[in-house]
Amino acid sequence: MRFDILTIFPGFFESPLKCSLIGKALLQKKLSVYLHDIRAFATDRHKTVDAIPYGGGAGMVMKPEPLVAAVESVPRQEKSLRILLSPKGTLFDQKMAKELAQKDQLILVCGRYEGVDERVKELAIDEEISIGDYVLNGGEAAALVIVEALVRFIPGFMGNEASVQRESFEEGLLEHPQYTRPAEFRGLKVPQVLQSGHHEEIEKWRREQALKITQERRPDLLKKVAKEIKNA
Ligand code: ADE
Repeated sequence: MRFDILTIFPGFFESPLKCSLIGKALLQKKLSVYLHDIRAFATDRHKTVDAIPYGGGAGMVMKPEPLVAAVESVPRQEKSLRILLSPKGTLFDQKMAKELAQKDQLILVCGRYEGVDERVKELAIDEEISIGDYVLNGGEAAALVIVEALVRFIPGFMGNEASVQRESFEEGLLEHPQYTRPAEFRGLKVPQVLQSGHHEEIEKWRREQALKITQERRPDLLKKVAKEIKNA
């Protein structure tokens, strides 16, 4: 899978892309990430990428010319989607991650300032996505979140394919609690059933725990699962 990230801060991505599984996948070419500096597409002497909003108001708006030129400069693959990260977008979730992971290429456009000129969306964007109901300084952190959520679906990325399947949200529920050695730590014991080796009992316990924790913390998810089952 290929990601093209358009940003005025390419340096933002340097260390996260070097670390951990993503760094390894990049070296192994299971994944490619290309960073494009939007400022390089500004044509004036000062390399201007923003301007004051028409109609007045606080803050600056990203100008359309450098942004559209930057998007248009990216070579397109067959299954490719141009995404603008913005707090006004459709809310990103695990289901969307799974769908987007089917693409060959995502072009992630990081907005900054008060937003981008509306015409950019018409000319050079297919979808607007938000990672949550809060406002970030720009789309860069959101783009990283999307890369990180999607790469987990790349075959061979995780090393252990089963762990992608079992995780929180994969069945619409939060994940059951996890324990590792030692069996007792500061007086706190690992539940007996997990040490029993009895696979059916363990599965049952995990399922019950997943339901319990989801009910306590995210009853909205349970309602969503119930609705999906009803409509299936
Ligand atoms: N840019 C600013 N806030 C954002 C958010 N919540 N999601 C995506 N991009 C953003």
